[in-house]
Amino acid sequence: MADLSTTFCGLPVKHPVGITSCDFGGTAKLIERYSKTGIGWIIGKTVHKIDGVHRWPRPFFYSLRHFGNDMKDAWICSQMFHNMPYEQWLDDELPKSLKAAKEHDVLYIGSVSGIGPVPETWVPFIIDLQERGVEIIELDTGGPHATFGAVDAHKDCGAPLALDPETAYQVTKACVEVAKVPIIFKTTPQCVNAAALALAIQRGGGHAISGNNAFYGAWIDHEKAEFYGVPGSMGGLIGRPWQLFSLAKILETTATIPEMPFLGGGGIFTYDDVARHLMAGCDLVGLCSSVYSRGIAVIPKIIKELDEFCERKGYKTIKDIPVLTDKFMYLRDWKREGPYMQETTPVVPEFDADKCNMCGICEDLCPYGAIKVDKASGEKPTFDRDICYGCGWCVGHCPKWAIRMIKADTGEEVWDGRGTIADWVSDEEGY
Ligand SMILES: Cc1cc2nc3c(=O)[nH]c(=O)nc-3n(C[C@H](O)[C@H](O)[C@H](O)COP(=O)(O)O)c2cc1C
Repeated sequence: MADLSTTFCGLPVKHPVGITSCDFGGTAKLIERYSKTGIGWIIGKTVHKIDGVHRWPRPFFYSLRHFGNDMKDAWICSQMFHNMPYEQWLDDELPKSLKAAKEHDVLYIGSVSGIGPVPETWVPFIIDLQERGVEIIELDTGGPHATFGAVDAHKDCGAPLALDPETAYQVTKACVEVAKVPIIFKTTPQCVNAAALALAIQRGGGHAISGNNAFYGAWIDHEKAEFYGVPGSMGGLIGRPWQLFSLAKILETTATIPEMPFLGGGGIFTYDDVARHLMAGCDLVGLCSSVYSRGIAVIPKIIKELDEFCERKGYKTIKDIPVLTDKFMYLRDWKREGPYMQETTPVVPEFDADKCNMCGICEDLCPYGAIKVDKASGEKPTFDRDICYGCGWCVGHCPKWAIRMIKADTGEEVWDGRGTIADWVSDEEGY
């Protein structure tokens, strides 16, 4: 069994997988329920003093499952910050929450939200939480729904705090100045320049960055010609596919400042999603909406399968898992054919007759109509090089892994559908 125990901002964490801020960290009872699953850490539901005690529209979770199987993990949500009066949470629920987490050796991370870069709205939370034994605090600065149709009390909380580097700097600085515990700044995938934001957080003295929060989301029920749930933009959870966008935003930070501890997540559903985020430079990896969509069993499954993966790969400790941030680059810097793309592609598909089951998917999906599958003949698929672009789409769709891309002149493999394509352009040809 791999030893995946780690540290985050100097604090020991028994497992890198945990739960990001949501109801599950809102009460001691729920912390108890989810701490038993084997997680290493849990973030509290965000506490705040914005616009009084938050009352959520009920019902507040709107699954999109009825709109097609491909939408089954997508949903929108009108839940806001913690619904408990702050003083009650602080004096009653927080001590019980800390106890519940400690009993299961789970690191409890506090989550707070102030308003704008105004120190007085943040500082009291930092002082309150650290006085009561919270060992690390996340600033909820990426929340999705606060800005839409915002009234004055809302317009400077949530995502707007994590869109502008100067605001992020001010908020971080105000909190770090009074903090005796590490401060994590939470980001949103809606931020255009995540790297600039990360550098501002670093400049402000932030100890770690986390991300991502959810997107905005809205939906229309076409049958009733009505908005679905609440007629406005809310938190939008796109399920596992969201991961690819969130991951790119995370990499903008982890590749820019790899030394900054990063708590990553966004669309984590499976063990390989966790492995991917560790490889992207995250120190901890969190999940949230997958537990709602697929049930609590998703957590022990991820933990078990991550362990099996590490065993299969020979990763004995978390440090053995490769981190790829130094390889992350700008697309424009990848060597390409020069001075222009040759009209006849130098890279072509090669079909393996032994593996091919003649299903015809490559013919159906070839964007250029270059591939022919003659099912009656049983011969391997053919392609017309004058039409083929060498795009590789067929490789990624073949259910039998029977297609790879090769250099037409040498037969050298360029891509077999796994990992990075070969750097096949020679120095003389490329630029
Ligand atoms: C029901 C629900 C409530 C959430 N509440 C909070 C919150 O109070 N504070 C916060 O920082 N993030 C909150 N989030 C955002 C999550 O912590 C997480 O960043 C986001 O959902 C993306 O991760 P996921 O794809 O694993 O769900 C909430 C998400 C959900 C689904």
